[in-house]
Amino acid sequence: MEMTGNIVILTGAGCSAESGIDTFRDGGGLWEQHRVEDVATPEAYERDPALVQRFYDMRRAAIQTKAPNAAHHALARLEREWDGGTVTLVTQNVDDLHDRAGSKNLIHMHGEHLSAWCTACDTRMGWTATLIEGPPCPSCGAAALRPDIVWFGEMPYRMEEIHDALRDCDIFVSIGTSGAVYPAAGFVRLAREMGAHCLELNLERSQGSAWFHETRLGPAGDIVPAWVEELVGPD
Ligand code: APR
Repeated sequence: MEMTGNIVILTGAGCSAESGIDTFRDGGGLWEQHRVEDVATPEAYERDPALVQRFYDMRRAAIQTKAPNAAHHALARLEREWDGGTVTLVTQNVDDLHDRAGSKNLIHMHGEHLSAWCTACDTRMGWTATLIEGPPCPSCGAAALRPDIVWFGEMPYRMEEIHDALRDCDIFVSIGTSGAVYPAAGFVRLAREMGAHCLELNLERSQGSAWFHETRLGPAGDIVPAWVEELVGPD
């Protein structure tokens, strides 16, 4: 089937797994090592800010030692070379591997490790160091910097833009996500209702697999470049 039109891509932790970044729910994943309630909710931050800051300081340092993999590079290439419409990349991932691979039309709906958010003056800024020692906000001076990450119970970022892109998409592709977390897990339904062709690229079937017209199983580093090659030809 000749593919054309606007493409919306949703990625999850599985897209970064081959770069050596743990996923959340796979065997030995992050949520087996840490309780969500202890590190990924506003209540946890209220209760024990040092525990939460230490967790994200560790993650922030770790991702700076990792590199984009073939899946990240293929998606950046698709954005550069696709002339059938727009390519919008929505990621649940808080690492910067899509950015470093060259993706531009990119929405970090769950925030970013390399960003800090001042809860006193509401400024967000690039941040690569630690936060546990409570550094002053470069903008207002308050010691009120927290990780710029969307925690459970908080609203994801740029949802209006995401919904606009889903309403206009002709091809919806989900890569490396378990479909366990909403609102991202519901995007395929909206895209399908809008008439988009829906494709899932994952190591195993996700919880929302039934909503996809097509599912291809395998490591993202293999199946994503192969899919991109179908659309824009060999690299
Ligand atoms: N290639 C393709 N898919 C993979 C690979 C790989 N190399 N490795 C793992 N996967 C798949 C798994 O089969 C699983 O379906 O990636 C998915 C990872 O699922 P999760 O660990 O649940 O991660 P994700 O779906 O991104 O989590 C969603 O939950 O914890 C919150 O906010 C966090 O953004 C995150 C959200």
